[in-house]
Amino acid sequence: MLADWGSRDIEFRNTVADIRKRLLNLAGCDDTYQCVIMQGSGTFAIEAALGSFCGKGNKTLVVCNGAYGERAAKILERLGRPCITIDKGDSAAPSAEDVAYLLDAETSVTHVWFVHCETTSGIVNPVKEIAEEARKRGKIVMLDAMSSFGALPLDMTGEGIDVMVSSSNKCLEGVPGFSYVLCRTGLLDASRGQSHSVVLDLFEQWRGLESNGQFRFTPPTHALVAFHQALKEHEKQGGVAARHARYSRNARTLIDGMRKLGFTTLLGDENAGPIIQTFHSPRDPSFDFEAFYEKLRARGFAIYPGKLTKRPSFRIGTIGHVDVDVMEAAVDAIADVIGEMKVTDLSPAS
Ligand SMILES: Cc1ncc(COP(=O)(O)O)c(C=O)c1O
Repeated sequence: MLADWGSRDIEFRNTVADIRKRLLNLAGCDDTYQCVIMQGSGTFAIEAALGSFCGKGNKTLVVCNGAYGERAAKILERLGRPCITIDKGDSAAPSAEDVAYLLDAETSVTHVWFVHCETTSGIVNPVKEIAEEARKRGKIVMLDAMSSFGALPLDMTGEGIDVMVSSSNKCLEGVPGFSYVLCRTGLLDASRGQSHSVVLDLFEQWRGLESNGQFRFTPPTHALVAFHQALKEHEKQGGVAARHARYSRNARTLIDGMRKLGFTTLLGDENAGPIIQTFHSPRDPSFDFEAFYEKLRARGFAIYPGKLTKRPSFRIGTIGHVDVDVMEAAVDAIADVIGEMKVTDLSPAS
């Protein structure tokens, strides 16, 4: 990232081509798929995919169990694209039966959109099973794998996933700046003229990249070059299996350490993935999230506020360039902070 990069130079264009190729390989895509990179954060690629593939004459079922499913439904609503939802609340995974039941009742549904790891809670949804029910009924299967791709296994061809969206800065450990859509070539071809937006038009973005290897509009050159390096490191470290193992060790260390202190988790171990962990805020009146956050930050740890609709909570990520030592240090820092705040009753606030 300390070098100067020209977006039209051949060296940079080769880097972009290699990123596109590596992403397709990593997702188990055969030659019926394309990779379209989009400037902007993950939500930009989500809106691009929904606006390009879910036409006015289609109907999309959005499977919701948290904020990110809800956001996809909100985008479709804003775009005036027909959409229905299943809502499982924010601490339960939708089952394949839930999806099958709805698809049988609503036969006009053409597309199914769901989230791999719902980062609102950390829950990992059953991708293979949901995709299978949708595919069996001839639906187009679309997956938000923003917070999971690179650490949770995904085989788009084998699992029949037609569209997948992710970004540079989660499990592949790049820096923020762009997102990408992996999708079937046939879907891209059919999407010509369907996008609501010039900037987020996936067909045009793809045509641009294919015609001369360049982006239509200025790309985040440094974020792309950093991501290329991140992909090489991901491979060198053992790929998806090794990353999954490291994040799982991180999650285990954090959950065990926090439970030992007296904190409780939203999810049981059976459906808490290795990506992010949700803890109930303590009932103790001395607990205040903002103070807790600032005191942890002063000790070198940045955490997330909760995103649950019903109960006060906070979240701690177990992904990124961190290992068990960092997780142990985080638990020690939390013990120190709650001691300083005089929080003694760690049972969950209602
Ligand atoms: C599952 C999921 N979808 C979508 C997003 C949105 O991504 P961004 O904030 O990069 O727009 C996130 C971000 O954390 C996410 O975890």
